[in-house]
Amino acid sequence: MRRLLIAGNWKMNAVRRSAVELAAAVAAQAPAESTAVDVMVAPPFPYLLPVGEALGGSRVLLAAQDVWHEPPGAFTGEVAVEMLRDVGCREVIIGHSERRHVVGETDSRINRKVVASLHGGLDVVLCVGELLEEREAGRTEAVLDQQLSAGLDGVSADQMARVILAYEPVWAIGTGKVATPDQAQSAQAHLRKRLTERYNSGTAEATQILYGGSVKPDNARELLELPDVDGALIGGASLKAESFLPIVEHAVEVTRRRG
Ligand code: 13P
Repeated sequence: MRRLLIAGNWKMNAVRRSAVELAAAVAAQAPAESTAVDVMVAPPFPYLLPVGEALGGSRVLLAAQDVWHEPPGAFTGEVAVEMLRDVGCREVIIGHSERRHVVGETDSRINRKVVASLHGGLDVVLCVGELLEEREAGRTEAVLDQQLSAGLDGVSADQMARVILAYEPVWAIGTGKVATPDQAQSAQAHLRKRLTERYNSGTAEATQILYGGSVKPDNARELLELPDVDGALIGGASLKAESFLPIVEHAVEVTRRRG
């Protein structure tokens, strides 16, 4: 049975003091090692170090929200894989919809980031997801197929042990409009089917696929109970311990009931 991962993507939020306080609160309530639930936080770059310190020796994983795909050098404003590892990151989120649709990142750039991160020792959370007009045009699966195959170009089955997928329908991000359980399950089962075709069933079964898009304490449970949802990537509700920790608790409950 796959573990569940509850991940907070803080986006461009928090100041140093609130970041440290939130990290300390999450660390203090992180589920015990005996549970099948992992927790991750992804603060903005300037707060990676103090947040890492606040997480201390806890089991909470530290992730970055983006990375550049070249070794250190003349890339003004960018951050290299080595630098993220140096400040204690184990993971990096790549291809978030705000990178794709606000900044304009292409599948090929996203792929270079995935490959460089895996090569440099960072595990990857690769985000995929369709726009509202793509869903309405019946193109959801085609969009996911394109983002998945381009994003994972050159990634081996062995390396997939270090890749987590996140299905984030763009129309559900920050809108309060959450995907229905049917929509989430169907998209995520589709992604897993594609992993089977691309790699093998063992790899597909082992890969964690998170759902993201307006996950809150009051809708988390029914999403986390879905067979192909292996956790949540959370924006708004990850910014306060009072809304993030209850989602972690739901995940612990769901795994307990699975036994
Ligand atoms: P919200 O939870 O605020 O909708 O954001 C989701 C998201 O983009 C997480 O990466």
